[in-house]
Amino acid sequence: MMHHLSVCLFLSFLSVQVVRGASISIPCLYDSKYEKHVKYLCKGHYWRSCSYAVKTNKLDTNGNFLIQDVKEQKTFTVTINHVDTDSYYWCVVEIDGGADDREFFHLSVSSTPALRVDRQKMEGFRGGNITINCYSRSSGMRKWCKLGGNCVTSSFQLVDGRKVIINKNHSVYSVTMIGLKQENSGWYWCDQGQFQMPVHLTVTERPATYFVNVFSRTDPTILFISLGVLIVIVLVACLVWFVLKGSKSNSNYFFLISP
Ligand SMILES: *[C@@H]1O[C@H](CO)[C@@H](O)[C@H](O)[C@H]1NC(C)=O
Ligand SMILES: *[C@@H]1O[C@H](CO)[C@@H](O)[C@H](O)[C@H]1NC(C)=O
Repeated sequence: MMHHLSVCLFLSFLSVQVVRGASISIPCLYDSKYEKHVKYLCKGHYWRSCSYAVKTNKLDTNGNFLIQDVKEQKTFTVTINHVDTDSYYWCVVEIDGGADDREFFHLSVSSTPALRVDRQKMEGFRGGNITINCYSRSSGMRKWCKLGGNCVTSSFQLVDGRKVIINKNHSVYSVTMIGLKQENSGWYWCDQGQFQMPVHLTVTERPATYFVNVFSRTDPTILFISLGVLIVIVLVACLVWFVLKGSKSNSNYFFLISP
């Protein structure tokens, strides 16, 4: 089948392989002029005979497919749950009164996928580094790419403005992105030539470890002070209670303890 290269919908990976029963998310990048358009996923080898799987304005009710349009990133992501057979899919932008813009990808099933990652969703901290391991069965051309951006093949090149360190041996291709910025959030993918694997990166603020440190360092002192204050409060309260009770009832109580 010829690869139909459309002008306005970019899908830089053509073939993804997963184990049977897995879920997979595939991002489809579109031109900004399509922001308000309906997007959908169509299943079938041939465009003319493919059938709707899920649409942004008509969600799949049995939960096999999910579609999410992230307009800020000009990307809609389709998630296919419980993959059980090899299939072709089409990412499509609906165009009123014209041919829909589309791009296909092939999803295949294997007990030992040609290219896989530990997790498709990765989280990094601003200013930190993140390492993604891409496991590959064959030694084809190996790349790390940003969706809508460039690809890198070796260490010290830049992807999405970040320097990368790449460590590779025959089965693992590990990519470390250095000094993450918030704007590096988005979709990337590992590429070994024949197969691709998309990975989503979210860069967030590092949690405020400063306060955690302050508290854990002075924890015993604070605990003792708090305990002391608590004991004093309880003693004072007891004393007040005794005094009040003693003045109301005729000091019976004092006879008991001081006969
Ligand atoms: C990130 O990687 C660089 C280069 O390897 C290293 O110098 C730096 O210490 C790392 N930063 C963190 C937070 O691990
Ligand atoms: C390849 O690299 C991975 C991760 O760095 C390591 O766990 C594995 O042992 C390496 N394999 C070989 C054959 O060097």
